[in-house]
Amino acid sequence: MQSKTILAIETSCDETSAAVLSFNAETGDYTTRAHVTLSQIETHIPYGGVYPNLARREHEQNITHVIAKALGEAGLLKEKTEDQKLPQEIILQLEQILSREKILCPILSDFLGKYETPLLDAIAVTVGPGLEPALWVGVNTARALCTVWGLPAIPVNHMEGHIYSFWAVEEKFKAPGISFPAVALLISGGHSEFIKVTAWNEYTYLGGTLDDAVGEAYDKCARVLGLEYPGGPKISKKADEYKIYLAENTEEKALPEAFALPRPMLHSQNLDLSFSGLKTAVLYLTQKIIKENGTLSPLDVLRISYSFESAVIDVLVAKTKIALKETGAQSIIVGGGVAANKNILHALQTLCQKFNATLHTPNAILSTDNALMIALVGIHKKPIEAPENLRADGNLSF
Ligand code: KG4
Ligand code: ZN
Repeated sequence: MQSKTILAIETSCDETSAAVLSFNAETGDYTTRAHVTLSQIETHIPYGGVYPNLARREHEQNITHVIAKALGEAGLLKEKTEDQKLPQEIILQLEQILSREKILCPILSDFLGKYETPLLDAIAVTVGPGLEPALWVGVNTARALCTVWGLPAIPVNHMEGHIYSFWAVEEKFKAPGISFPAVALLISGGHSEFIKVTAWNEYTYLGGTLDDAVGEAYDKCARVLGLEYPGGPKISKKADEYKIYLAENTEEKALPEAFALPRPMLHSQNLDLSFSGLKTAVLYLTQKIIKENGTLSPLDVLRISYSFESAVIDVLVAKTKIALKETGAQSIIVGGGVAANKNILHALQTLCQKFNATLHTPNAILSTDNALMIALVGIHKKPIEAPENLRADGNLSF
């Protein structure tokens, strides 16, 4: 049978995730055999953002369990019947590969001692971009598993994963029909960029943020307004509440946007983006209100959230329009944590209608970081035979 099965691992930020994906070349069917994601959000809330060394520690503690659960759900985990001790030379190899992952090493060694080698063809892993201490946990786990199980490794670019994330609509799916070239708009906590996709595997960087990423701006703005991390969903919810407020208080209707915030680089005819000025404008506006009124009222929070999100949407829509014109694309692919934002998607959908283009968006759970998208990229790539050569690269580009 022309079928292959891979395990994928993702640890680039604050989600520890593993997925098992099978692809049958005869039928063209992809099957999600298992997908397990453990979010660290609760751990990072007190810091108002992801703290890299804390992320690394959490990944070390949890990754073995997440992988075991995924392999178990895929029916690929079988307990050894006898000797559960690893040979001394394997233990030494593991200690060398995981020399910096002191928490992970004994947990992974126990797991490897307990279970038989699963029926896999390769292991795909995110090698970048992302937080390097976090990335290394996934990369070294893949190196260790590939070494002990005798499997090849597949290094995957996290951003390429976000481009593929809309593929997986159901448990079983086929490659989507899409007209090329496509414009991919990747918007997350660490990235905001436009990529021209000429074919699956063929990418050109068109432009992106010169400073803060969109998600980062949402998170920073939320912190100024006293909202918890991750700020994106909270700000968006407040923006929606403001729209309801406007509808219910008609005298406010003369003021569709309560505060005039900047729309950075709106009129530059290129695909550069910048969000730090918008974030600073929110900070100054908030300070001014507090100075004048002694406090920031709940209505002020709604108004600022709405104003901020409107500015973000205007900029993203204007730039996507330029990208469509520049490339002649008739497809837009959106990916990344911010792609969960219904208001942004709605505005992009409206733009698509004007351009007779199609908008491709991931399932809400696949817009945030996950291993299934890494598996999807990985299953199309040729594995490297020497897993010891895997390296994490926090600044990896396309
Ligand atoms: O892709 P992701 O899970 O991790 C990174 O690679 O950064 O994206 C996380 C980001 C956070 O900044 C979060 O605030 C933002 O995505 N986010 C949103 C929404 N849901 C998550 N931003 C705006 N609206 C949302 N609904
Ligand atoms: Zn991401």
